[in-house]
Amino acid sequence: MSEILKVEDLIKSYSMGKNEFKALKGISFTVEEGEFVLLYGDSGSGKSTALNIIGGMDRASSGKVWVYNEDITSYNDKQLNDYRRRIIGFVFQSYNLINNLSAKENVMLVSGGNGDIADKMLEEMGLKDRASAFPTELSGGEAQRVALARAMAKSPALLLCDEPTGALDYDNSRKVMQTIRRLNRENGVTVLMVSHNLAFLPIADKVIKLKSGWIEGITENDAPLSVEELDW
Ligand SMILES: Nc1ncnc2c1ncn2[C@@H]1O[C@H](COP(=O)(O)OP(=O)(O)O)[C@@H](O)[C@H]1O
Ligand SMILES: [Mg+2]
Repeated sequence: MSEILKVEDLIKSYSMGKNEFKALKGISFTVEEGEFVLLYGDSGSGKSTALNIIGGMDRASSGKVWVYNEDITSYNDKQLNDYRRRIIGFVFQSYNLINNLSAKENVMLVSGGNGDIADKMLEEMGLKDRASAFPTELSGGEAQRVALARAMAKSPALLLCDEPTGALDYDNSRKVMQTIRRLNRENGVTVLMVSHNLAFLPIADKVIKLKSGWIEGITENDAPLSVEELDW
């Protein structure tokens, strides 16, 4: 396996008046191509901060983030924008769909206006008959799968998911987790997912535990469970 991501001594600090607050205090880890990695930790531990920097949506205070052996922390805004478009798929807890566009039109925003790709992606997420529905007409689980269809429409190498089931009930959480897992195992997409849900630990290839901006431990699962085998 080859390395797709290497995070090196990543620090993110915020100035609070005269004081400095460090949301990330120097974290390091790697992600191999095809891996399902879970970034786990309590609320406020720095998970979203880390994911946003890796996704090129925020900047590090110091440290390096290597993606395919290129340090994205050295990128200018244009390079970072290009990196986000080419490499990264991002899914948020709150779906972030455009409410006055249909499911299909939301996906087409990323497929470069290509309706066939949008149809294919929606079908892959089990949403063939929901293509013309608007976000307010969708259940939370459907909305999150539209967001996944949108993220996947440009075939990202790295899928970043920030608490993707955070707003969902049990059944919808299961469906969304099954979908993410299938994209990882069958389509070979590398997944870095953030969650504070203990239940998801057994399905990851690797679990990175964050605590107050530090890595408390990194665990590799020799025999990760499928979502179907999981009970929570
Ligand atoms: N823009 C900001 N300014 C100041 N502090 C921030 C900012 N963004 C996040 N933080 C703080 O950084 C810490 C980590 O936040 P976050 O990465 O969102 O945690 P998590 O996603 O694990 O819940 C929190 O204490 C949060 O309050
Ligand atoms: Mg968060």
